[in-house]
Amino acid sequence: MFVVTFKRGNIVDTMTDFKGKIRTKESVYNGKLFFDRYTLLKANKKTLQINIMRKLKLQELNRVDKETFKKQPKTPLVLVLDNIRSGLNVGSAFRTSDAFGLEKIYLCGITATPPHKEILKTAIGASESVAWEHSETTLETVLKLKKAGFLVVAIEQVDQRTWLQDFPMDFGKKYALVFGNEVDGVSEEILPHLDACIEVPQMGTKHSLNISVCLGIVVWDFFKKIKYE
Ligand SMILES: C[S@@+](CC[C@H](N)C(=O)[O-])C[C@H]1O[C@@H](n2cnc3c(N)ncnc32)[C@H](O)[C@@H]1O
Repeated sequence: MFVVTFKRGNIVDTMTDFKGKIRTKESVYNGKLFFDRYTLLKANKKTLQINIMRKLKLQELNRVDKETFKKQPKTPLVLVLDNIRSGLNVGSAFRTSDAFGLEKIYLCGITATPPHKEILKTAIGASESVAWEHSETTLETVLKLKKAGFLVVAIEQVDQRTWLQDFPMDFGKKYALVFGNEVDGVSEEILPHLDACIEVPQMGTKHSLNISVCLGIVVWDFFKKIKYE
């Protein structure tokens, strides 16, 4: 008979009857133990010690506080939210921007600004770490960013778009990514001023993604290219 030792962080559970029924999430088949993920620590004829994956505690994530975040070097990327109707989507944009250390969010037109009940719900504090400013129209922000040397790229479904996976990044440039309204998409009037337009490929039945989901996909793709390529 084997003595099986399960190690979960500091907790060690020992089982002596593993040929019988074991009341754990792991399965026993023909007297063999199966785990989704484990590290084999020790094995001999009598004992088998296994280290099972455990979830990290908050302190182990080593996150910075808001003041440190503000002083940290940023990812050379800003977001432009073009008349976003839902504060929940805006809050989600803040949370994503915090995660990937973006420079700033430009909130344009009807887009809600902090403090706002819906933004707080999904940003969970990120609206205090990420810099933002509001403008009356998306066009004025687009023109201002272009003047400041940003390449302005709309994330939208237009005829002359580049698929996200094919977008050739110029690593010497700063990018401003424009995301559009939940119903109408990006404002028509900004189209002539764009440096490029990116579409996220879809294979299903729905014609578009939720804006905050789309934003997460695109920001991750840019962040990955800037940071790891
Ligand atoms: C729900 S969509 C708007 C759809 C709107 N009915 C239209 O036709 O433009 C909201 C925003 O999410 C982004 N979006 C959603 N799915 C996208 C995709 N597959 N490719 C590019 N942008 C997308 C765009 O920024 C879009 O303006």
